[in-house]
Amino acid sequence: MKRKPLIAGNWKMYKTKDDALAFIYAVNLEVPDKDIVESVICAPAIFLRDLVKREGENLRIGAQNMHYAEKGAYTGEISAAMLKSYGVDYAVIGHSERRAYYNETDETVNLKVLTAVKENITPIICVGESLDTREAGTTDAFVKKQVEKAYLNVSKADALKTVIAYEPIWAIGTGRTATPEQANETIMGIRQVIKQIYGSEVSDSLRILYGGSVNTKNVDSLLATSDIDGALVGGASLDPQSYLTLVKAALNKAK
Ligand code: PGA
Repeated sequence: MKRKPLIAGNWKMYKTKDDALAFIYAVNLEVPDKDIVESVICAPAIFLRDLVKREGENLRIGAQNMHYAEKGAYTGEISAAMLKSYGVDYAVIGHSERRAYYNETDETVNLKVLTAVKENITPIICVGESLDTREAGTTDAFVKKQVEKAYLNVSKADALKTVIAYEPIWAIGTGRTATPEQANETIMGIRQVIKQIYGSEVSDSLRILYGGSVNTKNVDSLLATSDIDGALVGGASLDPQSYLTLVKAALNKAK
């Protein structure tokens, strides 16, 4: 089954307005056809409105987080409906930095996934193990549990609207990438978990990305594997030329 490659940049808390707009102008006309590769930039919330207004034919804008409640007294938070009302189509859910610093749990990840699919926002659901877990040899079991919890009460039809990003915590921002074999093997395990829950129709078509120190040098070998369908990229998504190299690598995979 051919899955459309997806490259999602995760800008984290970088850039100011002028840098963000300059980036969009620099890449807009260069990103590949959206029917062949999905090119997404997940930007800080304050930029989303301006970026959506300027996104070209083929670039898509995503959020880095959203609240799980439809609405309510949650000072400082942003709902899925608010994102949707500005034309935002993706949201990163459960990034390990949010799990580590902002009390994001498997339970809140699950609630956010349920809310995102209801609002027709594609959740990019992050899972991944710590170095201790990797070294203890329990990565597959750990990640399996994260995936099972993220998809609790998510229907088969809604599961088809989701994307998973496998991001080993020890590889994020460290320059220490998982080898293509390591990443592919864990991702094959995740696909198996999805198959057990929903059957092969979902597991064959659901995109699973790798994230963690992806850059212009290692992207080709990561994407050359059987089960890695794209990448969630932090540092290497900040520079326009670097981002374009990544989406063009995905274009090669699609061919
Ligand atoms: P990195 O970040 O590419 O800078 O390692 C990846 C991520 O956190 O999504």
